[in-house]
Amino acid sequence: MDYTSSGTYTFLVAFLVFLLSLQFTTAIRCLSCNDVIQPRHCSGIEHCPEGDACVTESYRNKNGETLFNVGCMSALRCSLNAIHNSSAIILRTDIIGTHQRDVCTECCHSDLCNAAGCGMNGFPQQRGPVCLNCPQSRDPADCDVISVCLRGEICHVEEIFEFGDVFYKTSCVRNTDTQCNSHLIYNPVEIGRRSTRRDNCFFCCMDDLCNTKCHPSTSPVLTTEPSTTHMPIYQRNVTTSHAPSTISSTTQAPIHHDFKGKEFFLMFIENTLYDYSVIKLKAFVTSTATNANIQVITQYNSTSYHVSGLAKHIAIDANMTMRENGRASKGVILTSDSPVSVTAFNLYFSSASGGYLALPVESLGVNYIVGTARPNYALFETYGTSFAVGAPYDNTVVNITLSTSGISVPGQFHREGDKITVVLDKLDTFYIETNTLNQDLTGTHILSDKPVVVVSGNLCSYGYGGCNHLVEYLPPVSKWGTRFMVPPITRSISCIIRIISSVSNTNVVVISDTSNKTYSVSTHVDINTNSTQPYAISSDHPVLVLLSIYERTVEMTLVPSINQFSNEPVLVSTPTSFVYDNYIVVSIQTINQSGLQLRTVYGTDLSNVGSVSFPDADGEMYSFITVSCNNKCSVQHNDTDVAFSVIVYGFEINAVYAYPANLA
Ligand SMILES: *[C@@H]1O[C@H](CO)[C@@H](O)[C@H](O)[C@H]1NC(C)=O
Ligand SMILES: *[C@@H]1O[C@H](CO)[C@@H](O)[C@H](O)[C@H]1NC(C)=O
Ligand SMILES: *[C@@H]1O[C@H](CO)[C@@H](O)[C@H](O)[C@H]1NC(C)=O
Ligand SMILES: *[C@@H]1O[C@H](CO)[C@@H](O)[C@H](O)[C@H]1NC(C)=O
Ligand SMILES: *[C@@H]1O[C@H](CO)[C@@H](O)[C@H](O)[C@H]1NC(C)=O
Ligand SMILES: *[C@@H]1O[C@H](CO)[C@@H](O)[C@H](O)[C@H]1NC(C)=O
Ligand SMILES: *[C@@H]1O[C@H](CO)[C@@H](O)[C@H](O)[C@H]1NC(C)=O
Ligand SMILES: *[C@@H]1O[C@H](CO)[C@@H](O)[C@H](O)[C@H]1NC(C)=O
Ligand SMILES: *[C@@H]1O[C@H](CO)[C@@H](O)[C@H](O)[C@H]1NC(C)=O
Repeated sequence: MDYTSSGTYTFLVAFLVFLLSLQFTTAIRCLSCNDVIQPRHCSGIEHCPEGDACVTESYRNKNGETLFNVGCMSALRCSLNAIHNSSAIILRTDIIGTHQRDVCTECCHSDLCNAAGCGMNGFPQQRGPVCLNCPQSRDPADCDVISVCLRGEICHVEEIFEFGDVFYKTSCVRNTDTQCNSHLIYNPVEIGRRSTRRDNCFFCCMDDLCNTKCHPSTSPVLTTEPSTTHMPIYQRNVTTSHAPSTISSTTQAPIHHDFKGKEFFLMFIENTLYDYSVIKLKAFVTSTATNANIQVITQYNSTSYHVSGLAKHIAIDANMTMRENGRASKGVILTSDSPVSVTAFNLYFSSASGGYLALPVESLGVNYIVGTARPNYALFETYGTSFAVGAPYDNTVVNITLSTSGISVPGQFHREGDKITVVLDKLDTFYIETNTLNQDLTGTHILSDKPVVVVSGNLCSYGYGGCNHLVEYLPPVSKWGTRFMVPPITRSISCIIRIISSVSNTNVVVISDTSNKTYSVSTHVDINTNSTQPYAISSDHPVLVLLSIYERTVEMTLVPSINQFSNEPVLVSTPTSFVYDNYIVVSIQTINQSGLQLRTVYGTDLSNVGSVSFPDADGEMYSFITVSCNNKCSVQHNDTDVAFSVIVYGFEINAVYAYPANLA
């Protein structure tokens, strides 16, 4: 390659751009942050003075890590930089005498172009628009925080009246008519039903940075205007069919369902006993973005948190525990301005704990079948099985068909096969627990007309030496699978695999090193296993697989089906309130094992406590790698196409927790 001529060429281009930028002195908006690991993780923006360009500068910190500063730079400085190194717009200079070394400086000349400066990947290809994202600003155009929306989301701006003040809220919202059409759907300010919404202006649009202005929603002109780039796509009177064709083509693409998201609905079923002072409810939020602003909303209040590291443990008021059968408003909505993953814990002293991975609201469904672990034997039968349904949306009609008799809901007594219909509003929950050994809620069928959350478990299940709270967040039937790999569980004494069918007489084959058995499952089957061994499961209809892990006590975890293996990096944050012995087990196709990285967040390898491999029902080899993890750990693969599953578990003297840490 001829460096001189290409250098001259790029220099000329830079100079021309410089001249052009002097001529067309429109102000642009640039990403503006210091010390970010990649420009695209910057969520601040700046209106640059007229004539300025966006700049990306990279440097190495004292520890050799490459970090970035992004912002505005005068076009003159940009062109001088380019002259100093005529071989490229990218400058490579050493600043001697400081700890930092400039690696690159690059200017560019369009809105947010510095997301992709210095050869970095810009925003992901698969994304929604970049939107302003400020909970409150007097003028939406002055908002200086952005959010890269997920696919299926669009920009939203809304006028809010509160205590006589007018301000604007900007954000990403899901591209559904309920979000942009109706005033009554999700708005934190609405909690407590304060009358903050009258005929407020609200506006949805789908271009980058389009939510800088609130177009009046009642204007009849807007509903008939021909499609322009800034046309509002969902007004109160506009139906989905008026949406520009680009929106329908993006929504037709399968939406990537994933365990990371910006809105979660949490519920806490009753633990062993309820004592306000000793029950600790927690939401562990992990984030790979540099900053995340979290809001936790209950019927009582709405609280903001800031995650500036990789994880934050948020305490939830123990009053949010569901304790009485029937309807209540015990839901907790957690929102974030950047994608996070959320696990929830319910801890009773150090002696009974349960944890689950919450699914983002966009991954919820309308058709669920409950799975719990088997009820306790006679001596402890009062600690029964339980489940709860939670509503992230108002006016959700839920039909529950019970799998067992003797269920009392205030005012009513139900038997097996009874259908309970309940209408839930946002944050409402409907809770059922049983208290005899004959009552197993597994197989209870839940159908709703809007997406709901289902959490299930056992108040306290007995293992070999004590009882422990069991809880899982269930996937809708549409996410069930037909191929599973059950990993070996270090330190456990035995396990029970419970397989729940969606269709009666489902044929299920369970293969281990020593056996190969076929079951015809009407509602569910329990299989005692040697927990040091992996098992492969295949079925002719979709099933749900739950694993009860027995040590001194017992805990239940969902086992992801192979089609729920995910390629997203996973951050694990273990409970710190008591001393748990924590493990991570990764299941991955053996051919893809070599690029797997299991590390502490400081970059050191986690210590391996065992690896085995075993073929799935189709003969593909899978590896199961177990490491111990204390505090914060990460699991990722150097090839972003490779999918794997992660189950996290930990033992305390009288408690166990276990949950899947990723799900596609
Ligand atoms: C200009 O940049 C190139 C690489 O892009 C580098 O090799 C060279 O040393 C730089 N020259 C100066 C004067 O900084
Ligand atoms: C548009 O919506 C407003 C308020 O909901 C309503 O009063 C009006 O009749 C609607 N117009 C049409 C054309 O549907
Ligand atoms: C309300 O929020 C505060 C924190 O601001 C928290 O301490 C309190 O427990 C919350 N109450 C409920 C019922 O969630
Ligand atoms: C939460 O429970 C405690 C103890 O029962 C009680 O004092 C407090 O008022 C409750 N808070 C709310 C918001 O219900
Ligand atoms: C719930 O049951 C009612 C009454 O049988 C029925 O009309 C309705 O369609 C059902 N809803 C769902 C979502 O299944
Ligand atoms: C399991 O048994 C069936 C029937 O005996 C056989 O066809 C199949 O190959 C066996 N699978 C494995 C993995 O051993
Ligand atoms: C479980 O499997 C291991 C390894 O094959 C074996 O040593 C052990 O005896 C088995 N335990 C039981 C209870 O079968
Ligand atoms: C991923 O890691 C493996 C094992 O360390 C290595 O052989 C492979 O080249 C790496 N691939 C990439 C794309 O870095
Ligand atoms: C294994 O790696 C190959 C190549 O990267 C990839 O195509 C395949 O999907 C991976 N398998 C799984 C289960 O992720």
